[in-house]
Amino acid sequence: MNNQNTINDIRSKLNIVDIVSEYVPLTKKGQYYWGICPFHNDKNPSMSVDEKRQTYTCWSCHNSGNVFNFVEQIENISFKDALKKLGSRVGIAVEGSSSYNNKYNKYYEIYDLASKYYQLMINTDKGLKAKEYLNNREINNDTIKEFGIGLSLDDKDKLVTYLKEKKYDINTLNDLGLANNDIDTFINRIIFPLDDRNGRIVGFSGRIYDNSKMSKYMNTKETPIFRKGTCLYHYNASKEFVRSEKYVLVMEGFMDVIRASTIGIKNTVALMGTALTEEQISLLKKLSLNVYLCLDGDKPGQDADLHNGELLEKAGLNVKVVCLTSDEDPDSFILKYGEKKFKSLVENASNFSDFKIDNLKKDVNFESDIELSRYVNQVIKEVSEINDEIRCEIILKKLANETNLSYNTLEKKLNEYKSLDNEKRKSVDNNVIGRKDAKKDKYKRASEEFIYYMLINPKAIKVYDSKNLYFIDSDLRALAAEISYYYNEYGKINIADFYSYLNDKKELLNIYNVVQNLNLDENISDVTIMEYVSVIEDYNIKQEIKRLEEVMRKEKDEDTKVEILERIRKLRIGEIEK
Ligand code: CTP
Ligand code: MN
Repeated sequence: MNNQNTINDIRSKLNIVDIVSEYVPLTKKGQYYWGICPFHNDKNPSMSVDEKRQTYTCWSCHNSGNVFNFVEQIENISFKDALKKLGSRVGIAVEGSSSYNNKYNKYYEIYDLASKYYQLMINTDKGLKAKEYLNNREINNDTIKEFGIGLSLDDKDKLVTYLKEKKYDINTLNDLGLANNDIDTFINRIIFPLDDRNGRIVGFSGRIYDNSKMSKYMNTKETPIFRKGTCLYHYNASKEFVRSEKYVLVMEGFMDVIRASTIGIKNTVALMGTALTEEQISLLKKLSLNVYLCLDGDKPGQDADLHNGELLEKAGLNVKVVCLTSDEDPDSFILKYGEKKFKSLVENASNFSDFKIDNLKKDVNFESDIELSRYVNQVIKEVSEINDEIRCEIILKKLANETNLSYNTLEKKLNEYKSLDNEKRKSVDNNVIGRKDAKKDKYKRASEEFIYYMLINPKAIKVYDSKNLYFIDSDLRALAAEISYYYNEYGKINIADFYSYLNDKKELLNIYNVVQNLNLDENISDVTIMEYVSVIEDYNIKQEIKRLEEVMRKEKDEDTKVEILERIRKLRIGEIEK
């Protein structure tokens, strides 16, 4: 079995901030990094990552732990697999077999080989026509390489033969969608590799490039490792750019993303022609809180902006819309109007609320009282959700102008609408505050705080050991005992490493989270430590006296009663060893 030292060694070579931010965008505020908690339906960043301590904590759902706990849960793998996975990142081998991805490793391997094969083919003589097509579309060789673009030849068994030579069986190739009834699935197409969120190739999309009458794009069928609606094109590669730009641009197609990349815009993903799915939303959420929709400029594109924007806002994301002139997609827009114009459109992206209001207006017949009043109500509803007073005022002024209603009337209506909502909000808030304020009693607090100091100050452990300190709560008692044991065994305690130690004592994780999250002042005097001890011991004595009194009440034997009374007396005057 892997001992604590190996586990701690791996942990100490990793930075939890790096690992967490591969899944959740983090922003530094004060001492901590903050992000949306991936373990509950979080709207505001409730999860903090403490770089100093190397732990994370969600202050809303109370999920908390070290880097292993995080990866274990977010990847839905065992502790051991998380250990393996992270161990391999820092070059430390972890003993024991792992179930992690074993099942699919062969599939990823096959896709990787297939992609390399297609990329080779586009650089042969047989690829000249495809190259010419791409070059005509102003896709140069560097871009071809960057996006791993390849070519499937027009022979019917090229890839299949190649992979069979590598000893992969045809049934697997059929299952993986690379072959169809034993012949190549992709024939004579330009191949775009599709990768998963970790950058592993899991599928292909092939585009016709000559005058073929076949459908323009053809995609890998659903396989054990691929389902189109669960992927976003260019997701993995966009991560570092999204992190620095602080937003992600969502486009429709491959060519849009590829074109944007040629003008240096790489914080992009493509939906690949599907309607935005739940899985894609949750992927986006992991990437950034700020999503710019940059879909095609035509009517379906605009409708998709509206629909997708609603979904994204509901998921708690900040949405902006980049509006292209009709009939253009980002690819054709950039080719036609150039880099500068496109960048300026992105910089001037509309807030989703403005975009919605503009759209509401489009279908309104301003001559009709009914339509006008419905329009006003819709706008007011939108405005009520904007948290920016200046923007609200601007929109209301505009609305007043275009409807010939007075600003005051509109403002009154808005406040009416808001107050309705407020009342609901208030009652919810009260509930939350009520729960939060439920006061812990002094004893419990002292116990927890004392144990907290056991974690960071060996003096507290020494006091615990020498005084044989007793905690009435069985979880606290067990936790304190484990801390003392660990310290005496390993000579020091690290808050993040202790999570790993508790891995097979999961029942103690909750209480450990509570304790380690107290985040108390690190400097503590001996006097304060002893004050805790005295609160704890006094309470223990009171409880013991209560217990003895109860025993005595039930006791029939006079001699025993006297004995108990004597013990109570001694407890009261503090004569009995606490
Ligand atoms: N798409 C697809 N299958 C199709 C058509 C489209 O998977 N039969 C996806 C592709 O990801 C494509 C996106 O939908 O990139 C957008 O489709 P479309 O606008 O038709 O293609 P473009 O991106 O404009 O591609 P191109 O410029 O090469 O025509
Ligand atoms: Mn196009």
